[in-house]
Amino acid sequence: MLERIDELEAKATADLSAVSDAAGLEAFRIAYLGSKGAVKGLMGLIKEVPGDQRKAFGQGANAVRAKLEADFAARTAELDGGGVSAGSKGGAPASGPSVDVTLPGDGVPLGRRHIITQTIDELIEVFARMGFDVETGPEAEDDHHNFVALNIPDTHPARDPRDNFYIQQPPRSDQQAAGSPPLLRSQTSTVQIRVMENVKPPVRIISTGRVYRPDEHDATHSSMFHQIEGLYVDKNVTMVDLKTTLIQFAKAYFGPDAEVKLVPSYFPFTEPSAELYVKMDLGKGLEWMEVGGCGMVDPAVFEAVGYDPEEWTGFAFGLGIERLTMRKHHIADIRWLYEGDVRFLRQF
Ligand code: DAH
Repeated sequence: MLERIDELEAKATADLSAVSDAAGLEAFRIAYLGSKGAVKGLMGLIKEVPGDQRKAFGQGANAVRAKLEADFAARTAELDGGGVSAGSKGGAPASGPSVDVTLPGDGVPLGRRHIITQTIDELIEVFARMGFDVETGPEAEDDHHNFVALNIPDTHPARDPRDNFYIQQPPRSDQQAAGSPPLLRSQTSTVQIRVMENVKPPVRIISTGRVYRPDEHDATHSSMFHQIEGLYVDKNVTMVDLKTTLIQFAKAYFGPDAEVKLVPSYFPFTEPSAELYVKMDLGKGLEWMEVGGCGMVDPAVFEAVGYDPEEWTGFAFGLGIERLTMRKHHIADIRWLYEGDVRFLRQF
């Protein structure tokens, strides 16, 4: 009778090694280890074993059951590791999903800085190399910094309520304001005034930030956009310094082939004033594009901040950051910059 034990073990071991999937494992478990399986059947034979062999038979049968259970568990784990999930019914340990550590991982999408932020950082870098410090100013401004100190008189059309986001009702031009109504700044030129009120010359600063105008939204207009303002005050500053600075900027930002031209214009806070054009090749041949305004600081502005206009001279400029970005990156519609569509933003 004892050889029946060995036969069963040999057959079961061979069958188990031939098992290759979850279904095979389950069939093995039923055939050998289940409640009607071969191991149970072997145990049932004990009644037929002669008395003097019963003990040895019982021990042998128990040992074979323990061994087959262990082998079964080991085979289950082995096949599971290879991607086969064994049924958890028959005492086999339930196991989680298999992981192939050699497969490439799932990419985690990374965010990126918005193209306007990238441009601002690039502009700051360009002007910092020329020795300009970076200053900031508030977006909610007063009449004094947005207009008065910039030599924009009460009657000037730039102060029209239809052209500005006043936070309170503006005073009528025939009533001198007791207190000036706050507004969202319409230009970063406000920062020129704030800086000069606080520091003694010489001054060499740029400032970037948001400005607000109630423009109808279209491909080139937005009621919020960004400007970069520059101010340079020292003794004997001339238009040559202004133009040299702008040429350096244009070549650094648009590339070494970029050229610059100043076209006479008018701004209340500069005299003379000019519009800045940059000639650049953006794929369709060389073209002149207007990117902002500039000029020599008007003596009235120096007087407003307490600088002596006989002693100090300076230049200033203000450029549209969206315009610079759109020209360089061939962006046809300003609204795309603010819609937050990642399919667009991810290109930069
Ligand atoms: N502040 C002007 C605007 O928003 C731009 C500008 C023109 C700024 C000439 C300047 C300047 O500093 O000198 O249209």
